[in-house]
Amino acid sequence: MLHALRTQWLRVVVHIGAWIPFAVIVWDALTNQLGAEPIRETILRTGKTALILLVLSLACTPANTLFGFKSALKVRRALGLYAFFYALAHATMFIGVDYGFDLALLQGALLERPYALVGAAAFLILLPLALTSTKGWMKRLGRRWTMLHRGVYLAALLVIAHFVWLVKLDVREPLTYGAIVLLLLALRIRLIREGVVRLRAL
Ligand code: HEM
Repeated sequence: MLHALRTQWLRVVVHIGAWIPFAVIVWDALTNQLGAEPIRETILRTGKTALILLVLSLACTPANTLFGFKSALKVRRALGLYAFFYALAHATMFIGVDYGFDLALLQGALLERPYALVGAAAFLILLPLALTSTKGWMKRLGRRWTMLHRGVYLAALLVIAHFVWLVKLDVREPLTYGAIVLLLLALRIRLIREGVVRLRAL
């Protein structure tokens, strides 16, 4: 048990940590603590959690290549899938609960809120990634799997655009997430990655 905890601690942290925002939302819903606009509050919380988990999943590869933190690679898939789970809850709250899957109403809402279309584009990119995240699909698709899963970079950039666009006044928070995403993407560029590794060695 102790040995398993020592080697698997990051997995434990990720699995417990990823369920906490969900548990808090359910608790707050049951105890009427979601404020005056509970649906909107749930949309905002699930959206934010999806973004944070997506950013964490993008941080796994640089954490390994730059700092030799191998355990990060073992939780990358789980983080991506949890990000998708929250994105699904987020989209379902908006499309299903807020608009009752009413296509005519939704069309009007999307024309009024074009940022939601950008969110939907990100979601549609994440969907096949979540569906093909298993080892079986990885084998079946081979090199195409890697190409397909590079779509996560575009999805992350679209989510940032979605967030920047929907915020009306203070864009500091979405821009901070944007800067983190850009940094994580830049660290995948060979020249930059090798430069950082060399700097660390010095
Ligand atoms: C069909 C797809 C999507 C739709 C329709 C959608 C719609 C929305 C709506 C209506 C809001 C709330 C705006 C407000 O009331 O102020 C929102 C906020 C947000 N969404 Fe989405 N979204 C989608 C996909 C995504 C995805 C895939 C992510 C992340 C992975 C995401 C992340 C966010 C974030 C971070 C916020 C802001 C949360 C905050 O201000 O605390 N969305 N979205």
